[in-house]
Amino acid sequence: RLLIIDFGSQVTQLIARRLRELNVYCEIHPFNKVDDAFLAEFAPKAVIFSGGPSSVFAPGAPMPPQTVFTLGVPILGICYGQQVMMHCLGGLVERGHGTAEFGRAYVTPSGSGLALLDGWFDPNTTAGREQVWMSHGDHVSKIAPGFEVFGTSPNAPFAITADPSRHFYAVQFHPEVHHTPKGAKLYENFVKLAGFKGDWTMGAYRDEAIRKIREQVGDAKVICGLSGGVDSSVAAVLIHEAIGDQLTCVFVDHGLLRLGEAEQVVTMFRDNYNMPLIHADESELFLGALEGVSDPEIKRKTIGRLFIDVFQKHATEVGGAKFLAQGTLYPDVIESVSFSGGPSVTIKSHHNVGGLPEKMGLKLVEPLRELFKDEVRALGRELGLPASFIGRHPFPGPGLAIRCPGEITVEKLDILRKADAVYIDQIRKHGLYDDIWQAFAAILPMRTVGVMGDGRTYDFALALRAVTSVDGMTADYYPFTHDFLGETSTRIINEVPGINRVFYDCTSKPPGTIELE
Ligand code: XMP
Repeated sequence: RLLIIDFGSQVTQLIARRLRELNVYCEIHPFNKVDDAFLAEFAPKAVIFSGGPSSVFAPGAPMPPQTVFTLGVPILGICYGQQVMMHCLGGLVERGHGTAEFGRAYVTPSGSGLALLDGWFDPNTTAGREQVWMSHGDHVSKIAPGFEVFGTSPNAPFAITADPSRHFYAVQFHPEVHHTPKGAKLYENFVKLAGFKGDWTMGAYRDEAIRKIREQVGDAKVICGLSGGVDSSVAAVLIHEAIGDQLTCVFVDHGLLRLGEAEQVVTMFRDNYNMPLIHADESELFLGALEGVSDPEIKRKTIGRLFIDVFQKHATEVGGAKFLAQGTLYPDVIESVSFSGGPSVTIKSHHNVGGLPEKMGLKLVEPLRELFKDEVRALGRELGLPASFIGRHPFPGPGLAIRCPGEITVEKLDILRKADAVYIDQIRKHGLYDDIWQAFAAILPMRTVGVMGDGRTYDFALALRAVTSVDGMTADYYPFTHDFLGETSTRIINEVPGINRVFYDCTSKPPGTIELE
């Protein structure tokens, strides 16, 4: 396996993505956790140093342990990773002073025969130069002994450097980002020369995961909170395959689900998978507690607290469970390296079952901890989950509560469910569902005047939201055509009593968030 040492770049996860796409297994670990003992235990076959916001001159600048250079494995340093490498191996780094470079740059070849650059510079383009993405303040001013230059850009004379005999490679740009079009090729060459065969497949992952679950759990009982979302569904099916009826799922219906959702989830898991499943219909409890609440954070916290109470109550029925299964994904567990020096601002309190394992004395089973979202989908396909389930848009734990700004009422929820169903039906009919990361309707806390069939209406306004995204962290609004929006608005107003006006939300994230609350 390959080790990525994280020095705090915003795009470290993209490095992991590029490697996974090459079927190479890798893990990201923050620089301050990587010491000699860690390296000995991890035994990486190759190492990548990520970029990072720091300067090697800063007091306490992040550094790898010097032993990493004595492991005898290939190392690739990126941006700050390059500067660290030069700094540690006897080169020189200088502060910016007018040579900072941000954005597009072009690298031209210098020297030849470097395996890392096989098929990289295309002799048919102007002087074989290649577009790359730079983002650096400091730069290398003298390369370390043993290194040679293989590519230069106007502001980075050491854009590509290497010591081929030791298999140390260092680049000033970011090959992992989209704006370095041939970046993937560079990673492909790197893993090839490190001896990876690219044979890490979902089938292999599934078998290994099943073996690990059996080993961890033994003959103990496991409970799993099933939301009907892709992550918890895939985790449940995988664990069920590993330990059968030692697993019981608890599906908490908080009355904030979409049209027909509870039935779909329960039928699918009980009938198709024959899985022990508790359907906890607790809508009265949740909606009662939310009555009169309009503050988004209070809504979220109320739902989170009740969810834990209800889950705990029903889990007790299972009797003697020792483990709690969760569909935690890799992006949730990567310890990100923060240089901000202070606690980050809470934008939203995400609802999850945090705190539950300690409270109930349970240990965690998290078989998806190493996977990215699309890999979870691939695993779901491997496990035979229906495509319609795997491709579902994400749905937040607090459900429709956060799509109903202001006070939540049964009437509003009812209108919202119907309107959302028409909207999603439109998206499916136009073949757009899979192009969109997430789409939903939200009912706005206002009524507006309209005229329908010669009569006056005074009904709710609806906001439609659709975004594209890779990971939900940033998002763009989806560019529907005017025809689509017009047709959808007409259908919703005709088919859903209680709505007489429809808006389309064209805010990206940032500055907006995906959900309205
Ligand atoms: P925001 O609104 O923060 O949402 O831009 C980003 C993604 O996270 C989902 N989301 C949640 N998921 N519990 C969840 O499981 C939550 O409390 C929660 N809040 C937001 C949201 O649907 C989007 O996909």
